[in-house]
Amino acid sequence: MPVSRIPETSQTGLHRRLDDVVMRHLASGWRQPLRSHSVQAFESVLARLQAAPALVLDSGCGTGSSTGILARRHPDALVVGIDKSSARLARAPELPDNALLLRAELADFWRLLIRDGLRPVRHYLLYPNPWPKPAHLKRRWHAHPVFPNLLALGGWLELRTNFETYAYEFARALALAGVSDVEVVSLAIDEPISPFERKYADSRHRLCKLTVNLGVTR
Ligand SMILES: C[S@@+](CC[C@H](N)C(=O)[O-])C[C@H]1O[C@@H](n2cnc3c(N)ncnc32)[C@H](O)[C@@H]1O
Repeated sequence: MPVSRIPETSQTGLHRRLDDVVMRHLASGWRQPLRSHSVQAFESVLARLQAAPALVLDSGCGTGSSTGILARRHPDALVVGIDKSSARLARAPELPDNALLLRAELADFWRLLIRDGLRPVRHYLLYPNPWPKPAHLKRRWHAHPVFPNLLALGGWLELRTNFETYAYEFARALALAGVSDVEVVSLAIDEPISPFERKYADSRHRLCKLTVNLGVTR
């Protein structure tokens, strides 16, 4: 893969509007209509989701290569990779039987899981788009109106990013929601878990990982 540029940002430290935006989202429900293609994708696998002994989510799975790795790591769970890009999903490798890929919007898929009482035991957010420009704050998941739903999904959440500020802002948003015991550490990569992790590690980006137990509700 070509060398990847480190996210460029004029932001120094946490975004100055972060607290306001997160607090507003925590205080108000978000009712954007669900997109029909997400609902169809969800319903096409609902029986399988309901029958699974445990669910692991790979949210924003790209080509699904990490979904395959996670499925081998969690053989007793159904590992679901979700991405909005059909072009990326079309490049999926062969997957183990306990993995499946879906094209859907994450903000819809997470709300559909909650609506139907389904909760992951583990939730991976591997290299979400960093949106490093300050004007794009609300596109970062912790400042997006769906954030309270992401928290409500519960489970052991692992976020990896090449934009350190993203991880620290996410930790701050968790603190505002009253979630403690959040860990942010820097990552040294031996075996990349995903194509973006490989690309960023090869380009010598600083990578970091946030982990938090949001509780298991299933
Ligand atoms: C930087 S890539 C990382 C892909 C993969 N996790 C990896 O580490 O190689 C971010 C991925 O998130 C997906 N994505 C971004 N926003 C999304 C959304 N709202 N719903 C679903 N997928 C989304 C993109 O299509 C893209 O594949």
